[in-house]
Amino acid sequence: MENKFPLNALGLSHQFIAAHIREGAFCIDATAGKGRDTLFLCRLVGESGHVLALDIQADAVAQTTALLTAEGVVHRAQVIEACHSRLGEYAAPDSADGIMFNFGWLPGGDHNTFSHADTSVAAVRTALDRLKVGGVMTLCLYYGRQNGTAERDAILAFLPTIDHRRYTVIRGDFSNRTGDVPIPIFIIREQ
Ligand SMILES: C[S@@+](CC[C@H](N)C(=O)[O-])C[C@H]1O[C@@H](n2cnc3c(N)ncnc32)[C@H](O)[C@@H]1O
Repeated sequence: MENKFPLNALGLSHQFIAAHIREGAFCIDATAGKGRDTLFLCRLVGESGHVLALDIQADAVAQTTALLTAEGVVHRAQVIEACHSRLGEYAAPDSADGIMFNFGWLPGGDHNTFSHADTSVAAVRTALDRLKVGGVMTLCLYYGRQNGTAERDAILAFLPTIDHRRYTVIRGDFSNRTGDVPIPIFIIREQ
């Protein structure tokens, strides 16, 4: 059977999000980049839904806005130039049905501007609180090139500290692939 989602960290994240998000949902793209994940979320939430997208780079905000405009869905989204550690200023507690983090640098942009351990962990911590009960979150961890391994290690160290009574946290491992294989993380808020 053909799978329309690639079998990689991002494809599996999309598949997981798509399985849970319905028309009318509120979703957050915490790393807007070129806007492809924001567009994916805008399509899932439909005309009655809403997407909040954040990126620390003005160029990413411009690219995301341009893509959403070209695809006719820009009215479904609010795209903000801000660090995702400030997520709490833009979304209320218990409000989001789905949240995506696709860490790293802007594709085609400056590879020396990338997400960092301290703000990434702070942002995930806030995002956990912004999820509704029943909401889902994905993290894609890239590492091993300009960004090294500090962010990956900090997030992987943080995950076991998340309250297991309220959240289920699943870490994907491509056991028979070699190299710096991106790591997908899937989180479900249960209480
Ligand atoms: C791998 S890209 C995201 C790809 C994007 N979701 C897409 O569909 O094109 C990572 C993005 O995270 C952004 N970023 C890095 N640090 C950030 C931070 N502290 N807060 C928000 N965005 C950040 C980068 O500027 C970059 O655009």
